[in-house]
Amino acid sequence: MNRAASGSPVRVAIIGAGKVSDYHHVPAIRLDPRATLVAACDASEELLRQRRSDWGIDYVTTDYEQICRDPNIDAVVIATPNFTHKSIAVAAALGGKHIMCEKPLGLNAAEVRAMYHAARDNRVVHMTAFTYRFAPSMRYLSHLVKSGAIGQPRHFRSQRFLDWPETSWGWRQYKAQAGAGDLFDMTIHRIDFAIDLMGPVERICGAVARFAPRDRTVDGKPCPPSEVDDWSCLIGEFQNGATGVWEGTTLAKGYEFKGFGHEWAEVNGSEGSAVYRLHMPNQIMLGKTGSDLAPVDVPAEFLKPAGSPRDPSVGEPATVFRYDLMWEFISAITEGRDAVPSFLDGLRAQTVADACLSSHERRTWIDIPDEPR
Ligand SMILES: NC(=O)c1ccc[n+]([C@@H]2O[C@H](COP(=O)([O-])OP(=O)(O)OC[C@H]3O[C@@H](n4cnc5c(N)ncnc54)[C@H](O)[C@@H]3O)[C@@H](O)[C@H]2O)c1
Repeated sequence: MNRAASGSPVRVAIIGAGKVSDYHHVPAIRLDPRATLVAACDASEELLRQRRSDWGIDYVTTDYEQICRDPNIDAVVIATPNFTHKSIAVAAALGGKHIMCEKPLGLNAAEVRAMYHAARDNRVVHMTAFTYRFAPSMRYLSHLVKSGAIGQPRHFRSQRFLDWPETSWGWRQYKAQAGAGDLFDMTIHRIDFAIDLMGPVERICGAVARFAPRDRTVDGKPCPPSEVDDWSCLIGEFQNGATGVWEGTTLAKGYEFKGFGHEWAEVNGSEGSAVYRLHMPNQIMLGKTGSDLAPVDVPAEFLKPAGSPRDPSVGEPATVFRYDLMWEFISAITEGRDAVPSFLDGLRAQTVADACLSSHERRTWIDIPDEPR
């Protein structure tokens, strides 16, 4: 039943009660009067004991199937390690739960396609947690590009440089659990917003590399070494004729920026250039021929989604826009519409990320299928 019609808050369960749920999703549910957190599921009983008090909930379980069958739950957030997303999402779709799932949606496009089909065929709202689409400057950049304000888009360029310790990433450094490293963790967000800004990707040439062995945990214990990339890179052509260049690394020493790292994404159009930077999300850099790029405040209507009670002047700007994902998810549920970005967007980005790995392996350009189905 449509919760909007009943006027009751959407009852949300968190599946995967780790870091991203604690930092992004639970504070976002708290901000939204149309939603209520009713349950948490995690594989760790110890963490669940902690979350009962952290999050003030009574209903905790280690069994995600129980959550997916529960008629008193309307929606789930899946924030578990990547290799578990598919089975949890399919169970949630079969149970009629609306789903927001963390990126990457799966280990490869075949998994993601199965998730998309399950959600679509069971008529539940499905959303991919592509966080950076919600940064105010990204929302404004998207408006500028799509309204033609910087002319015909010619180049997309993104850099995501992090200065992370070279110790173990836990599950994130094993192919069977993560799929890939920096590519699926970081660059996939930039593939997603590039497609949103520029349209479909026609072909790409990609490369990945691993430098750090990561054979020690943070507390110095030995562990199996990393199997995944800590640097990823693509060049590409969009169907509209524009070019794209993406580079991501977790090994950029000196790029701390209060823990947010360096992020720069820009579009060069025939009439001007516009730049999004994560650490200054309420400003955009704009430039025209004959002038230098200069910061401009993002207009008020782009600082948060329409109707959201979030005060954009409260909190760390590079953190608080992340709460807007939940606003979009709950809005899609209560308004009975598709969420943006959806699982189909997750599939489009996954198809390009998979092609990056194939391109690297085969040392060749890869054509991207027209529209994944
Ligand atoms: N959108 C973003 O900006 C963003 C940021 C961080 C992480 N993520 C994504 O979120 C997901 C989780 O990342 P994290 O940093 O919170 O990881 P994490 O390791 O802190 O948390 C994952 C949790 O899932 C639990 N878990 C594992 N298997 C489970 C199962 N079968 N059922 C229930 N719980 C299970 C673990 O016990 C752990 O507590 C990943 O897919 C990651 O890529 C996205």
